[in-house]
Amino acid sequence: MLTLYLIFLIHRVYAADNVPPDSILLDCGTETEATGDRTWKSNFGSEYAASDLTASTSLDARAIFMKVAWVPYGTARIFKSEFTYSFPVSAGWKYIRLHFCSASYGNLSSSNAIFSVSSGGYTLLRDFSVSQNREEFNITVKEFSINVAKGRLNITFTPSSNYNNSYALVNGIEVIPMPDIYNGSAIIAGEKGVSLIVSNTTVLEKVLRLNVGGTKITPAADSGLFRSWSEDDFMYLPAGLRGEEDTADSSLDIKYFPSIPSYVAPKNIYRTARTMGSNQSNNQNNNLTWGLLVDPGFHYLLRLHFCEINSNITKVNQRVFQIILNNHTVEDHADVVAWTGNTGNGIALYKDYAVHVPKGGDRGELLVELHPNIASKPEYYDAILNGLEIFKVNDTTGNLAGPPAFDPAVDDSIDPNFPRKSGNQTAIIAGVTGGLAALCLLGVVVFAGPPLWLMHSLYGNSHPPVPGKTNATQGFASSLSSDTCRHFSFDEIKAATSNFNEALILGVGGFGKVYKGEIENGTIKVAIKRGNPLSDQGVHAFQTEIELLSKLRHRHLVSLIGYCEENCEMILVYDYMALGTLREHLYKTKNPPLLWKQRLEICIGAARGLHYLHTGAKPQTIIHRDVKTTNILLDDKWVAKVSDFGLSKLGPSSDHTHVTTAVKGSFGYLDPEYFRRRQITEKSDVYSFGVVLFEVLCAKPALNPTLADEEACLAEWALQNQREGNLDQIIDPYLNGKIASECLKTFAEISEKCLNEKGIDRPSMGDVLWSLEYALQLQENMEGGGGVHGDMDDEETSFTKDPDAKSSGFSGSGNNSWSSELLPR
Ligand SMILES: *[C@@H]1O[C@H](CO)[C@@H](O)[C@H](O)[C@H]1NC(C)=O
Ligand SMILES: *[C@@H]1O[C@H](CO)[C@@H](O)[C@H](O)[C@H]1NC(C)=O
Ligand SMILES: *[C@@H]1O[C@H](CO)[C@@H](O)[C@H](O)[C@H]1NC(C)=O
Ligand SMILES: *[C@@H]1O[C@H](CO)[C@@H](O)[C@H](O)[C@H]1NC(C)=O
Ligand SMILES: *[C@@H]1O[C@H](CO)[C@@H](O)[C@H](O)[C@H]1NC(C)=O
Ligand SMILES: *[C@@H]1O[C@H](CO)[C@@H](O)[C@H](O)[C@H]1NC(C)=O
Ligand SMILES: *[C@@H]1O[C@H](CO)[C@@H](O)[C@H](O)[C@H]1NC(C)=O
Ligand SMILES: *[C@@H]1O[C@H](CO)[C@@H](O)[C@H](O)[C@H]1NC(C)=O
Ligand SMILES: *[C@@H]1O[C@H](CO)[C@@H](O)[C@H](O)[C@H]1NC(C)=O
Ligand SMILES: *[C@@H]1O[C@H](CO)[C@@H](O)[C@H](O)[C@H]1NC(C)=O
Ligand SMILES: *[C@@H]1O[C@H](CO)[C@@H](O)[C@H](O)[C@H]1NC(C)=O
Ligand SMILES: *[C@@H]1O[C@H](CO)[C@@H](O)[C@H](O)[C@H]1NC(C)=O
Repeated sequence: MLTLYLIFLIHRVYAADNVPPDSILLDCGTETEATGDRTWKSNFGSEYAASDLTASTSLDARAIFMKVAWVPYGTARIFKSEFTYSFPVSAGWKYIRLHFCSASYGNLSSSNAIFSVSSGGYTLLRDFSVSQNREEFNITVKEFSINVAKGRLNITFTPSSNYNNSYALVNGIEVIPMPDIYNGSAIIAGEKGVSLIVSNTTVLEKVLRLNVGGTKITPAADSGLFRSWSEDDFMYLPAGLRGEEDTADSSLDIKYFPSIPSYVAPKNIYRTARTMGSNQSNNQNNNLTWGLLVDPGFHYLLRLHFCEINSNITKVNQRVFQIILNNHTVEDHADVVAWTGNTGNGIALYKDYAVHVPKGGDRGELLVELHPNIASKPEYYDAILNGLEIFKVNDTTGNLAGPPAFDPAVDDSIDPNFPRKSGNQTAIIAGVTGGLAALCLLGVVVFAGPPLWLMHSLYGNSHPPVPGKTNATQGFASSLSSDTCRHFSFDEIKAATSNFNEALILGVGGFGKVYKGEIENGTIKVAIKRGNPLSDQGVHAFQTEIELLSKLRHRHLVSLIGYCEENCEMILVYDYMALGTLREHLYKTKNPPLLWKQRLEICIGAARGLHYLHTGAKPQTIIHRDVKTTNILLDDKWVAKVSDFGLSKLGPSSDHTHVTTAVKGSFGYLDPEYFRRRQITEKSDVYSFGVVLFEVLCAKPALNPTLADEEACLAEWALQNQREGNLDQIIDPYLNGKIASECLKTFAEISEKCLNEKGIDRPSMGDVLWSLEYALQLQENMEGGGGVHGDMDDEETSFTKDPDAKSSGFSGSGNNSWSSELLPR
């Protein structure tokens, strides 16, 4: 009861103050107080230092993107010898978040940042290498939950004694009081009658915090505890069964189950879910699976968040499933409605389980599988999950550190993208982190050859597998080839499109016609792209290309479902995108104008998709070659997806005789360097994306020949205005006064950089993404973020669905949004 009251109190104060009382937010190594998502205290002086401060130095991060410092990553405190921070705090649970940025600090090499961190007898990190564990934007956030018994919390940083020239560093430290949120017991999978008890002496490290079926939730939009929840971008799902993302109807009011306090997770976690989809017979023979590589020799606490959001499921025994963790059934009869006491849908709750991943090897697998409970004959053979949190639990010696996380054999100056290793003795497993960046990618290096889907799903965006070192295990390999790239017969395609009914045409482009179609007996809507028939020689190349593209699975890419090559046809089947193209929400449209925040989120999604194309399929770099607002599509939940990628080689224009003459791409978006040198690089995509950014800002077409010469080409017109400081005069009038000035500055700067004449001077897609994320943060600061509790459903209100847009179809107004648009409209 006392806890409840306390929580109530904490909530009250959070609401008033935005930051929990007694919180400590340190921006290390800077002299000035900094405002990022919250106000971060400068930590230049001796406050909180329990060791001699002269043992440390304060240095600026020298990272490419640090021109605009993202608090707290722009500066760091460097320790050449052991150093302790001692924080005066009240007793009780705290979230401790340590923020690290891998960069050069002064003349120090980023690869020498190897150190240990301990607190109150617990080892949090040991021989931890910042550079080998860096995640997106080279940022790493480690989150621990610790119960502080006495009035002081000590955190000690120790440079590793095992490596020469090692040093410790920290960019930011958060100490946030938290309610007793994880205490209790959780049954351990496969150990009958044995439970894991989370007590005051347990320390937890966050490994994963996933908004299943939904988008990222930033610290500001969390329920007062400043956690970040990662976007469900398929990274943790095996390639075979992807299921379906569901979102609650906006009319559904999510309520917390009475014993569950609302700070456990924001409502937006519960509003989205992943389910198996509507194919009942398929569901019976499948699992909905999440897989993760973790450090062996630890217990893991898994918190599964559930909320029935389907309006048809309000009664017991409608959707019943088993929960299987590492091959052990921990729940045979999971029935979310029954768990709520049969009080209908929209009730949020969670269940805790534990898994012991035994010692042995360099890595352990953590598998969460949901399977319909056939025996109870539910109305739907289906399963649902809304959120997933995974924590590592300290071992009996109070240790949380995995195997040594630094491999001296790795010279990360060779491949700046990600560390590799030689031999097979060590694995580097980095948990997913969140924090301010709120962009959570898993950094993993594995050698013994995990299942291919695991490789794929884990490497996900930015950390591709080491080529040549992996092979798929039998089971997963077969699921990959059959499920991720389905082969359709020509008859199936004909049935799906009512024999290529012209009335179903969504668009026509260089590649051919695009039809709206239905497969699986009308249950799944698809876009079917029928290319010009292949030559014999083309078939093989087509198949190879399809194999590659089908493995590129990402939330922000339009998924290729399958293909048909019968009768020398070249037909591709894609997910259907209900809200059409980005362009038809910008100008010359009946659609209502998009909010600025919405536009930013769409740009971020598209940038993320392109970033994945450039880096996610290594060693192959996939260059889109035709980035434009009609190739950025929106699904029914406003998720931006890049379409029409990678097929350039397949299009008729790539025919030998045409290669040199046909410039793929669209006027208004073409990289000038490409024109000059006929050499395409990923920086050509960056250029085109820069045009997209200005198009989004100004709501003007990339090329408008009806305007005066200087205005006709948006790229030039925008650059000229940007350089003269007149950009505000050409932005979409609808946005006047609605963009935070710092946000506009950041947005315009990065857009301008994208349009640099020389490719080498343009940022990478990763840098663009970083700047856009930062711009969004600046905008959210002005708008007041997602609210302290994050349960205000601001997503729903700002992202109101437009019924008209739905009918406008996959590629909107009909013409050529699919491929090369060599002539301006
Ligand atoms: C756990 O810690 C809290 C806060 O420090 C304290 O109030 C509580 O009594 C402790 N519980 C036990 C069992 O020691
Ligand atoms: C790095 O710079 C510091 C002073 O800024 C100097 O004392 C130190 O010797 C330098 N280290 C190396 C390896 O050059
Ligand atoms: C991350 O670090 C590497 C190597 O230090 C660098 O090449 C890369 O540009 C950095 N990424 C960003 C986004 O700064
Ligand atoms: C924290 O460190 C200070 C200074 O080293 C020490 O006096 C104090 O006992 C430590 N407190 C705890 C709880 O470890
Ligand atoms: C550290 O440097 C010394 C002298 O250069 C060398 O003998 C030793 O092997 C190095 N140690 C490590 C761990 O690299
Ligand atoms: C589902 O998971 C269970 C437990 O791992 C496994 O026994 C079963 O074969 C899986 N089913 C499918 C279709 O993969
Ligand atoms: C509910 O059932 C009806 C009739 O079967 C169906 O049309 C509708 O799509 C279902 N709604 C949801 C949210 O699944
Ligand atoms: C689960 O079972 C499969 C098949 O028996 C096995 O290959 C796999 O290693 C098991 N996974 C775990 C985590 O125990
Ligand atoms: C965590 O560490 C504490 C203190 O060392 C210990 O009492 C506890 O048993 C450990 N937890 C587990 C699950 O081993
Ligand atoms: C990999 O490790 C295994 C066992 O740890 C060992 O038997 C094998 O020889 C190693 N292979 C290489 C190439 O080092
Ligand atoms: C995987 O291993 C099988 C045999 O074990 C081999 O035939 C196949 O070529 C390998 N695949 C790759 C991609 O190395
Ligand atoms: C498709 O729908 C028809 C009519 O509803 C039904 O008879 C048939 O069994 C369905 N086929 C499949 C494969 O579900």
